[in-house]
Amino acid sequence: MISRRGLMLASAAAGLVAFAPSAIGQVPASLDTLPASAPVRRFGLTAREIEARLMGPDGPVTRHVCAYDGALFKIVRAPRGTRLAVDFENLLPDPTTVHWHGVRGPYLSDGVAPLTQDVVPPGGRFSYNVPLPDAGLYFFHPHCDETGQVGRGLFALLVVDDPAEQKVGFDAECFIVVKDWRLASDGQWLAMSTDEGAANAGTFGTVRATNGQITAPRVEVPAYGDVRVRTIVADATRVIDLGCDTDDAFILAVDGQALPPVSFKALPDDIWRMGPAMRLDMQVRMPGPGQEVKIYDYRSSEPYLLTTLVAVDKGKAKTPLRAKALPQPKVPLPDLKSAKRLDYLLQVSAGPTIVSPALPADDPLSKALVSSLCVGSTTHWAISRDSWATDEALRLPPPLATLSNGTSYILSMSNVTKHVHPMHLHGHVFRVLSSSKKKMPQYLADTVMVEPNETVEIAFKAVSGNWVFHCHILEHMDTGLMGWFKVV
Ligand code: C2O
Ligand code: CU
Repeated sequence: MISRRGLMLASAAAGLVAFAPSAIGQVPASLDTLPASAPVRRFGLTAREIEARLMGPDGPVTRHVCAYDGALFKIVRAPRGTRLAVDFENLLPDPTTVHWHGVRGPYLSDGVAPLTQDVVPPGGRFSYNVPLPDAGLYFFHPHCDETGQVGRGLFALLVVDDPAEQKVGFDAECFIVVKDWRLASDGQWLAMSTDEGAANAGTFGTVRATNGQITAPRVEVPAYGDVRVRTIVADATRVIDLGCDTDDAFILAVDGQALPPVSFKALPDDIWRMGPAMRLDMQVRMPGPGQEVKIYDYRSSEPYLLTTLVAVDKGKAKTPLRAKALPQPKVPLPDLKSAKRLDYLLQVSAGPTIVSPALPADDPLSKALVSSLCVGSTTHWAISRDSWATDEALRLPPPLATLSNGTSYILSMSNVTKHVHPMHLHGHVFRVLSSSKKKMPQYLADTVMVEPNETVEIAFKAVSGNWVFHCHILEHMDTGLMGWFKVV
């Protein structure tokens, strides 16, 4: 199960001493997003291989499943304003890192090898300092051989609770984690990536699942209650059109960031399109006892049932339907009047190597890259002619742009390929301003879908650090659709 890349990495890393900067708080105050006095929750985290019956309780045992702390679909939960001090240990046979997707924290804990840290070799450790300044649904996952490790299950949910949410008063909470498995009929892993998939829409799983179950979960919730349904696409490839069979449903938050509630009825086709890494919080009002609400992916040729909510009598009386607004996010917002423009094309790559000149060979970042090959072996994609490094050109590409801390930017992305690209910017929550193709509500996000022939504009206030910007269809990212910004 160890990939050729993993083997090379493991042997390259064998001579290195495990890197363990133990004291958290080594992060310069200028990069921190919480005061030094913020409460700290310290815990250990491991990544290791387990065995699991992914095809159902009567199915075969799958070996080499990857999981944090040995548990698939783990949920870490903490109040907003907490700082996580995570002592991570890599018990996998391959190098890895941990990336805290969507969390506004210091780039030194962003987990992107080789840009913000070296890979954590097998048996190695790394301490992450993860401030949680914003409420919402996030997740964490490796940022090295992501397609392979996430594909085999390595991710966990991170739920940041805002005490002010208590007043909003939901009657139940339910998680929908969309994650398929790529298994042969004997229950063992198929190759996570194929050249055909990487160059097109991605390589899909063979077994669809919700929360790891191949039959849609049935969740009992109070009749006439308001259920907070929290969905995440943790799959490496799949794009879903999330919707449900009741009109009494609202979008409350995108990528964890609250927006004024939007009725599903007000959306084109009554659905919200979600690609890998995207999250959506919705409110579903339940009907009377014994009735059900079904939540579907309408993108499949036959609507695919994700979860059934079953109304049970808990003595709750019927009340008039009201959308429940969550507390508004407190993220730094861009100033559109003074914003500078950045324009990029999402495109297929011109060739197998980097098009632009790379950093000088003695640059520390170039050196870091040589000891860590967190890159794909082929290039299919590019951002304005730049592709992320490949095996053939082991140099970090130059930054897409050097930005200045505190300055606002409007970033426009034009997709000139035939496939959708859910684009993610690390370390920032951005405003989605406009699409050339569709009308959308105003919202904040960390990952945004860009459809073929569409131009999407986002705006953000830049924060110091080295931040990658990439497609979250993991094979696209692994084969070139990734760049980085240097913010100084
Ligand atoms: Cu989920 Cu580079 O990110
Ligand atoms: Cu893509």
